[in-house]
Amino acid sequence: MNSSTIMFSNMFSDKLFYKHCKRQSMLHRSAIDDRVGASVMSAKAVRNFRTGSYFEPPDYGLFSPNKINLTRGRRFDCAHSPQRSKAMEQTMIFRQLFDSVSGTYTYLIASRQGGEALIIDPVLEKVDRYLQLVRELDLKLVKAVDTHLHADHITGLGALRDHTHCITVMGEQTKADVVAMRVAEGDRVSIEGVSLDVMYTPGHTDDSYSYLMGNRIFTGDTLLIRGTGRTDFQNGDPRAQYDSIFNKLLRLPDETLLYPAHDYKGDTVSTIGEEKRFNPRLQVKSIDEYVDLMNNLNLPNPKMMDVAVPANVHIGLHQDEIARKGWALSATQALSLRGRTDTTIVDLRERSERERHGVIPGSLHAPYPDLQENLSAGGILHELAMATGKRIVFYCAFGERSAMAVQAAQDAGLKSACHIEGGIDAWKKAGGTIEQ
Ligand SMILES: [Fe+2]
Repeated sequence: MNSSTIMFSNMFSDKLFYKHCKRQSMLHRSAIDDRVGASVMSAKAVRNFRTGSYFEPPDYGLFSPNKINLTRGRRFDCAHSPQRSKAMEQTMIFRQLFDSVSGTYTYLIASRQGGEALIIDPVLEKVDRYLQLVRELDLKLVKAVDTHLHADHITGLGALRDHTHCITVMGEQTKADVVAMRVAEGDRVSIEGVSLDVMYTPGHTDDSYSYLMGNRIFTGDTLLIRGTGRTDFQNGDPRAQYDSIFNKLLRLPDETLLYPAHDYKGDTVSTIGEEKRFNPRLQVKSIDEYVDLMNNLNLPNPKMMDVAVPANVHIGLHQDEIARKGWALSATQALSLRGRTDTTIVDLRERSERERHGVIPGSLHAPYPDLQENLSAGGILHELAMATGKRIVFYCAFGERSAMAVQAAQDAGLKSACHIEGGIDAWKKAGGTIEQ
């Protein structure tokens, strides 16, 4: 869920707050963060609470026509009635866009017109087209995901981030320099009304991931329509790919719709069941037979490889620029902030990241997607800074979101705002303590 959350430990005791919210039927899924031992409430919920209007947006990724057993044994049950699911599907935006030069499919997804959107595997040369579509559909692009480090085209992640300030997402194994959010098996990538389950499916590359959204699976180059992604460069491994395909992807229900990152024959979508029966690469009797098959493809390298791979590794925001303006603290400098009463440290990451990687003790939680709302007049961060005069110090995973947040805060008039360069990753490396 995307609503901004911020701790209100001084306003309510945890128990009292929880009871109070529940009584008012206003609990947002992310409104309570009991892990950090403090009450967390969405900023939207606060306003809605004050005005008496509460809502719960739909979540496409949380329902599925079947129970799906993922590799970690998690089960997802149908949380909505078929009628409601159908109604939500009807309002959903799902666009499959094509780059004919690289044969790449890009997916633009939103739960509704006017809502938040995410994009999967954008191509640099098509960024203007994506942005135009985003504008036309009145969407707010909040996340841009690459299934893996591409070798055949330059990713649009960096350009989309620069234009929209969206969060860039890749797997934790990626060699891309500054991806804002790194995900792992079992994580979820969520926006308003949409949730993607993250599946680590290495083999084509060692940073290849697939994303499951209800009855749709985005397989990147791991499993293609009547093909599989090559495994002969970028730490590719046919054995790992066999495992990803046969022990993960093919265990999804047969009717799951398969959307790959590429197609060169004109196919747009398949199903898991169809690929089981008709994909020639999958008609093998053993892992050794598959490895042998993949090791003897003798394919030429992609034409763009020498350009695309280095370009895709360097998509990071230039945190140096923020530092040059005097708006950055090194992790070592940030350590001295502990116990200071004139500073508020604000965590911009999502709840799942906080749970997995821990938090800086005493920090507040205000997720990045609602930053603008929180920084504008009347917003929680704006009011906090104005009312207390405290310096706001942002941090995130690696400094990417926090660098953008500092610029936004400065633009909003919070002239003392700064961030921790390198994020909580740098904080940990500098010996900073973490609260789990
Ligand atoms: Fe690829």
